[in-house]
Formats: sequence, structure tokens, C-alpha cells
Amino acid sequence: MKNLVLVTGSEGMIGSRFVELYPDRNSLHIPRQIEFDITDENQVKAIIKSYDFKAVIHFAAYTNVGEAEKQRDKKDGDCWKVNVEGTRNLVEAVKPYKNMVHFIQISTDMVFPGDKFDPGPYLENHPSETDSNRVTWYGFTKAEAERLVKKELGENSTILRLIYPVRAKFEGKLDYLRRPLKLFDEGKLYPMFTNQKVSITFIDEACHALDRIISGNHYGVFHASSSDTTTPHEVVSYLLEKVRGANDVVKATTLEEFLEKSGESALRYPKYGGLSVDITEHKLGMKFSSWRQIVNKLTSQGLGQD
Ligand SMILES: NC(=O)c1ccc[n+]([C@@H]2O[C@H](COP(=O)([O-])OP(=O)(O)OC[C@H]3O[C@@H](n4cnc5c(N)ncnc54)[C@H](OP(=O)(O)O)[C@@H]3O)[C@@H](O)[C@H]2O)c1
Repeated sequence: MKNLVLVTGSEGMIGSRFVELYPDRNSLHIPRQIEFDITDENQVKAIIKSYDFKAVIHFAAYTNVGEAEKQRDKKDGDCWKVNVEGTRNLVEAVKPYKNMVHFIQISTDMVFPGDKFDPGPYLENHPSETDSNRVTWYGFTKAEAERLVKKELGENSTILRLIYPVRAKFEGKLDYLRRPLKLFDEGKLYPMFTNQKVSITFIDEACHALDRIISGNHYGVFHASSSDTTTPHEVVSYLLEKVRGANDVVKATTLEEFLEKSGESALRYPKYGGLSVDITEHKLGMKFSSWRQIVNKLTSQGLGQD
């Protein structure tokens, strides 16, 4: 069956929504992690060889940014093994069929430093960071994976970057909006940054972009993100107004104040972030929502009504 699509990480926060929304559910091959470990080269080769895939969407990743930081520079750590070696296994397995199989790597804004020397919002063609000291270890492993995909599969591949992905409901883990909402409900919401530039990804729109990439045979680098940027303080204030009817309840702080008090690494909190979507909108013929529209749409999908 030549319309078969292999989805790695199909039980994760983003992959599972892709599966839910994909128009032709029967054409998805979604092995569970237990039967398909991307760090197992032989398993990966066998699966790619035994089916006639038209596309591979690679969501699977080691995504715990904090834990990844503890593995910095360790190539025997899980983060490197899953994000770099796992991607390498898939890429090597696909390479002999690269003219027939569209390989799509799901990536992140964290491949960029988001600092004042190289600030966002980043265009799709902005080079990802090559100096591991300027990004998180997680971000660096994802940037290495992007380079691998580009080097080995070139024009036959696609990279789709996301930033702070959000959806209305998912039991597996909290996201950029559901976490502060839960903390607010528990009376534990911390002050939010007023001076950090971010954008957010409506996961449903990222899935729609993927549909277009696959069905329209689009290759290259794409972004899925709100069409504008905001700050954590602004977006969470708006969220609480919309979903809880609570006005002016979010305390404000600055990134610098937080970093000084917490002793956390600045790499985890890029001050000048955000992804631009202009090239993607033009190439895919679609429009991304603004961050306010995303909050509105999630609210109408029942965000915070569990
Ligand atoms: N969440 C974000 O903030 C964010 C932002 C930008 C980009 N992204 C990217 O989007 C993609 C999906 O992220 P997500 O938030 O959906 O992640 P997630 O919820 O952590 O899901 C990751 C998935 O990968 C699977 N996985 C991990 N190691 C594996 C292995 N060795 N073999 C096979 N499967 C494995 C996990 O399975 P188990 O649960 O069984 O381990 C899980 O199903 C990732 O590539 C991530 O880098 C995420």
C-alpha cells in the first residue's frame, strides 16, 4: 500500500494528536515504543524494509529539557542516543529508498539560541546553532539531528519546527498553557516574565501543516507557530481571563530577576525567541492563527473544562 505513513512517537503529546486528526487514519502505521525502539538499529531497518512507506514522520524524541541538561556532552546519555543516534538509525534505514519515502523530522525552536546576538523570531532558513554552549543540550541534539537529516537525505527530506506546542486536552503531560492553568487552580501560579519574547504552536495547525506537506509533496524547512509573538505574562493573563474569568491575577517578574533568584541556566529561557511563519504560509498556502486566536480556539475546544 503506497499511501502508508510511519509515525514515530505516536503516543506522545504531538504525535497522538496528529494520529487523531489525520484524515486517512487507516494509512498510518503507528508502532508502539515497546515494539519499535528507534535506538535499535536492526528494528528500525526491519520496519522500513518490510513496508512500502510513502512518508515517515519522526516525532519520537527525548524531550525532557531539564534532565537532558544533566547529560550535557554525554554521547552515551539517553538524550543523545534517542535524538541523534535514533534519528541516524531512521535516516540510514530510509536512505536507500530516499526517492520514494518522504522523511519528515519534527524539530524545535530550541535549535536557536534566542539571545541578543542572534535573536528571533527566526525565519525558516535561519541556520541552526552549531555551538553546544549557546543552546540547551536538548536543543543541541535536535540541531545535530536536523543536520544529519539534511546531510543524508537532502532535498528528499523535510524539517518542521514547533515552539511551545499547545492542545486543549492531553492526559500524558502538561503544556505551556495547561500547566499555568493547573497551577492557578491550585493557587500556586508563580510570577510570569514580562520581557521574554515567545510564540506558541497550536498543535492542530501543526498537524494541518503536516497534512499539506505530505499531500502536496512539499520539501524543505517549515515552521508551525502563532503568527505573532507574546510574553509569558501576556499570554497567561489572557488565558486566565478567557478560561477562568480572572482579570489581573498574574504577578509579573523579569527574566533577569528570576535567573538571579533561581540560579537556573539562561540557556533554558531564551529571551528573544519566536518562530516566523511567513515562508511556510506562502509555500503551503495556509495561515497560522495569532496567539490570541489560539487561546480562543482552545477555549472553544474545552481547554480547562476537565
Ligand atoms: N513539547 C515541546 O515543547 C516541543 C517543542 C518543540 C518541538 N517538539 C518536538 O516535537 C516532537 C514530539 O514532542 P512531544 O512533546 O510530543 O514529545 P513527548 O510527549 O515526550 O513524546 C515523545 C514520544 O517519543 C517516544 N520515544 C521516546 N524515546 C523513544 C525511542 N527510543 N524509540 C521510540 N519512541 C521513543 C515516546 O515514547 P515513550 O513515552 O514510550 O517513551 C513518546 O511517545 C519531538 O520531536 C520534540 O522534539 C516538542
